[in-house]
Amino acid sequence: MSDRWYSEAVVYCLDIDTYSDSNGDGVGDIPGLISRLDYLARLGVTCLWLHPIHPSPNDDDGYDVTDFYNVDPRFGTLGDFAELLHQASNRGIRVIIDLVVNHTSDQHPWFQSARSSPDSPYRDWYVWSDQEPADRHQGMVFPGEQHETWTYDRTAKAWYYHRFYKFQPDLNTTNPEVRAEIKKIMSFWLQLGVAGFRMDAVPFIIERTEPGDPNPELDFEFLTELRQHVQWRRGDAILLAEANVEPDELPAFFGDSGGSANRLHMLFDFMLNGRLMLALARQDPEPVIEALRDTPALPEGGQWATFLRNHDEIDLSRLTAEQRNQVYEQFGPEEHMRIYDRGIRRRFAPMLGNDRRRIELAYSLQFSLRGTPVLRYGEEIGMGEDLSLPGREAIRTPMQWSSQTNAGFSTAEPEKLLRPVIENGEYGYGKVNVTLQRRDRNSLLAWFERMIRTLREAPETGVGNTTHIDVPMPPGVLAHRADGPSGTMVFLHNLGTADAEVDLSLLQPEADLPIDVLADRNYDDIGKLDKLKLAGYGYRWIRLRRS
Ligand code: GLC
Repeated sequence: MSDRWYSEAVVYCLDIDTYSDSNGDGVGDIPGLISRLDYLARLGVTCLWLHPIHPSPNDDDGYDVTDFYNVDPRFGTLGDFAELLHQASNRGIRVIIDLVVNHTSDQHPWFQSARSSPDSPYRDWYVWSDQEPADRHQGMVFPGEQHETWTYDRTAKAWYYHRFYKFQPDLNTTNPEVRAEIKKIMSFWLQLGVAGFRMDAVPFIIERTEPGDPNPELDFEFLTELRQHVQWRRGDAILLAEANVEPDELPAFFGDSGGSANRLHMLFDFMLNGRLMLALARQDPEPVIEALRDTPALPEGGQWATFLRNHDEIDLSRLTAEQRNQVYEQFGPEEHMRIYDRGIRRRFAPMLGNDRRRIELAYSLQFSLRGTPVLRYGEEIGMGEDLSLPGREAIRTPMQWSSQTNAGFSTAEPEKLLRPVIENGEYGYGKVNVTLQRRDRNSLLAWFERMIRTLREAPETGVGNTTHIDVPMPPGVLAHRADGPSGTMVFLHNLGTADAEVDLSLLQPEADLPIDVLADRNYDDIGKLDKLKLAGYGYRWIRLRRS
């Protein structure tokens, strides 16, 4: 085991409100989640990332907080939350929570006070302008749903800044009081026992916003401060951040003091995500190879978090227009599948036409590439999306537990559910659910369990160094390796449909009784590694040697 637990973690993200409802009110809750911990433990999850748990008017699915020191009463009480931490820990599962401190809800008492008077003690907690800022219509994160970043507030008689929706006023993080409060919030949850935070919108948190300047300076020192604070309060706590920026800007977010990361421990690998989508669409590994090559080297202790799906749209904004169109053509051919002029609001299984071979291939690739894998709830059973729901809600439907009413998610009257369950068609809960797949040894769920367990026996992926094996390959095939203290793993993935034969005999001198530890089927013996068969959409995880 590595000293740093997050290098070997399998992270699973979920929203409490759509996971499991214990009291029949139509909204998932903490006791419901506690009752599913055995399921998560069996799946092999070692870290839960909970989407915002705080009280909220829920205009942005909880990313609009009104009280950072409590849990949404629909989910339960703080007592229930402490119990969740205890029960999860009993099963070897750590819990991290979303920390959404770039902004608050406009209903937060701080903002209500701030707008009420220039003399309010909270006035300077937000970002104001007396005049209409010239860049008022620049920098929107949600084009189509958001029209400006500065909005005039009649009560305040001033303009306030909001990087996201207008009901999410930005906190003024240059104010020392706000900085102190953010640290206090972190301390509070660490004290209760969370293992760290998924930090929302980090590049925006550290902006030194000035009216009229659409490209403000970034204050990275604030991240160093937060890291020091967190690490002192709880030595093994982590910061996993959302920072969807250009590759050359990434190293500053990790920080590098004396060769070690001294800011964020982990960043989501948005760059790899876009390239993976492109590679799958083209059935050509080249974009992934480029991503492996182009992503900056990380300081000691820095780690990527890989993902195929999260709770937001698949963001293709870092691809060229032509590349983006190739992905759209394959995975989001219809206008209503797309969003914000940059992304796709679909689940993974339907994007791949529910082709089991391709789903396995894609997840095998994600989990075997460098970094810590993050899995979104429902993907392990191949859930679909509901495109009749607005925006990103399409992929936020309740977890499908069984063929019972409401997919076993809740006993409420169906009209009372927070969001409808997917009922009809190929992805309806009668066809896609945990209970059915539990009984089937060949189900996608059973595959995920096996794959995750195999990954845990191959810690090189998370802890070690991952590189492309640069030798001639048949079209569509990617070969990569992971080298760590425990040995070497070699991975083959065929993104194309044609059967292939791969020659890796150059690795023969390093091999020590190499074996397949996971593959899409039973392949012949590995022999001298010179004639490795690989079916169309096939994959092989080969243990080359153990140290
Ligand atoms: C992040 C979240 C997204 C949310 C936004 C505003 O991008 O991932 O879901 O809407 O921040 O908080």
